[in-house]
Amino acid sequence: MGMESYHGQSVSFAFATFLFILVLQCMHVEPIPLINIKRHVHVWNDVSSTVILNLHCKSRDDDLGQHVLAYEQEFTWSFRGNIFARTLFWCAMNWANSTGHVFQQSFVVYQSKVTLCGKNCVWSARTDGVYFLESFAGVYVLMYNWQ
Ligand SMILES: *[C@@H]1O[C@H](CO)[C@@H](O)[C@H](O)[C@H]1NC(C)=O
Repeated sequence: MGMESYHGQSVSFAFATFLFILVLQCMHVEPIPLINIKRHVHVWNDVSSTVILNLHCKSRDDDLGQHVLAYEQEFTWSFRGNIFARTLFWCAMNWANSTGHVFQQSFVVYQSKVTLCGKNCVWSARTDGVYFLESFAGVYVLMYNWQ
C-alpha cells in the first residue's frame, strides 16, 4: 500500500467522523457535552382564548417565580448548560375552565442529555395536555395529560 492510498483512507475516515458529528448536531444531540450552548426554554399558553395559565418554574438553584400567562403568551428564560451537564428545570402549571374545574401538571421541562431540543426547547399547554416541540421533526407531541 503506497503512501498516497494510506493518506486517502485517513482523509475519508476524518470526513466520515465529521459527517457523523454533523448528523448528531442536526439531531440536537451534543457529541461533546462540554459544548456550552445557550438554550432558551419557552412555555406557551395555547389552551384557549378565555383561559389564563398559572406557571411556576424552578431549577435546583433558581426559582423563576409565579407567572400568569394570557392566551398565546409565553414565558421564556435562557441558560447555559453547565459542563457537568446537571442542568434541570421543572414547571408546575394549572388553569381552570369556565365551570371552575382545575387542570394541573408538573414535570421536567429541561434535563441535560435527556431533553432533546436545540437552542430552543418549546412547550405548548393545550386543552388536552402539554405538548413538546420535537424540533428535529418540527411537530408538537403530546407529552403530559392534565391531572
Ligand atoms: C370543565 O371541566 C370538567 C372536567 O373535565 C368538565 O366536566 C366540564 O364540562 C368542563 N366545563 C366546560 C365549560 O367545558
